Amino acid sequence: MPDAYILGIESSCDETAAAVVRSGEQVISNVVASQIATHQPYGGVVPELASREHLRAIVPVVRQALAEAKQTYNSVDAIAVTQGPGLAGALLVGISYAKALAFALDKPLIAVNHLEGHIHAVLLDLSQNQERQEGNRELQFPVLALVVSGGHTHLYLARASDRSWTYENIGHTRDDAAGEAFDKVAKLLGLGYPGGPVIDRLTPHGNPNAVKFPPAQIKHPDRRGRKDGRSVELDSDSLDDHPRFDFSYSGIKTAILRYVESHDMRAAIESRRQALANIPKPKLADYLAHCDRRTLDLVASFQRAIVDDLVGKTLAAARAYDVATLFVTGGVAANQELRQRFESEGAKEGLPVFFPSRPLSTDNAAMIAAAAFPKFQARDFAAMDFSAEAGMALK
Ligand code: KG4
Ligand code: ZN
Repeated sequence: MPDAYILGIESSCDETAAAVVRSGEQVISNVVASQIATHQPYGGVVPELASREHLRAIVPVVRQALAEAKQTYNSVDAIAVTQGPGLAGALLVGISYAKALAFALDKPLIAVNHLEGHIHAVLLDLSQNQERQEGNRELQFPVLALVVSGGHTHLYLARASDRSWTYENIGHTRDDAAGEAFDKVAKLLGLGYPGGPVIDRLTPHGNPNAVKFPPAQIKHPDRRGRKDGRSVELDSDSLDDHPRFDFSYSGIKTAILRYVESHDMRAAIESRRQALANIPKPKLADYLAHCDRRTLDLVASFQRAIVDDLVGKTLAAARAYDVATLFVTGGVAANQELRQRFESEGAKEGLPVFFPSRPLSTDNAAMIAAAAFPKFQARDFAAMDFSAEAGMALK
């Protein structure tokens, strides 16, 4: 089959993104317009503002992605767009524009699940991976994929049938996503938004063993599972066959709130918040200048607790399902300590662990174009009347 150039469009949350990817593997261009500055004053994404920003950015972002790839609207082979999950109003901007392009240009349109995009982001870098370069290019299934971002902490068992992939969810967060916990804790400590990248950079300056957090308590087993592709209530026997690996991060956020209160940290947090808000693009030195030892220790201990939990449960799931390969992807997969720990613990168990490059860990459109490629090959095209699915599941 000749090379296929797919234009990907992503607008599910707070990044307007477009990219051109060749045959699901090679990123030709990758443009991401971030809305961080818009949402920063609110400490989180404001859905209505996100939709408006997407409307402003979508046309120039797509134009730039085509220009950087030396492609034109007419030269690409298909247009892929995120259908969900995400913010409905935000998704609709990308979907409406993709539909208009596909209709006007008479090109196939491919609807992609954002989470499948995060999983396929790993494939974009696999060709550069050493082990694959050394001749072992065949990806071994089943793959266990941890998708860990601001909206999700989900474990999927991925299998390949023909050219397409199928997914079984074997664990998810019962409350906050891990990235959401990073963002909420950073906000609580006056460190701004988004929290993950700041906490990641501050952690090496604190003592990760200074504050101990109790492990997350998940009291009731989640009895929902999938059988024959349907969501069903599982009995105890099937629970043994389909063990679940759920996460919970609202408890640690409350523990940090209590710590802040019992250690009288409020006034210092407020002055840090104000000081950092007056610096247009704070650097690491600015954060460090406004953080005392106790705050740095708290931040490092928080990150250690999250990393321990994610690595521990994911590797337990990998053992229970006897998987051949592990993927770790999504915004939080950009985290330095998380990557190192997965690499070292995976190596101990002889389990190959793959991540996307750090820029492709967070939201982008190259991952959407990559996930669209098997659908392009299978001619699995979307009808013109498909719509956004804010709570779309991955199957
Ligand atoms: O995948 P993503 O860009 O968007 C969603 O689909 O949610 O993930 C964004 C999330 C945010 O919560 C952000 O704080 C977190 O990923 N994040 C990180 C890092 N970079 C981004 N968390 C920890 N360490 C990082 N380096
Ligand atoms: Zn995402």
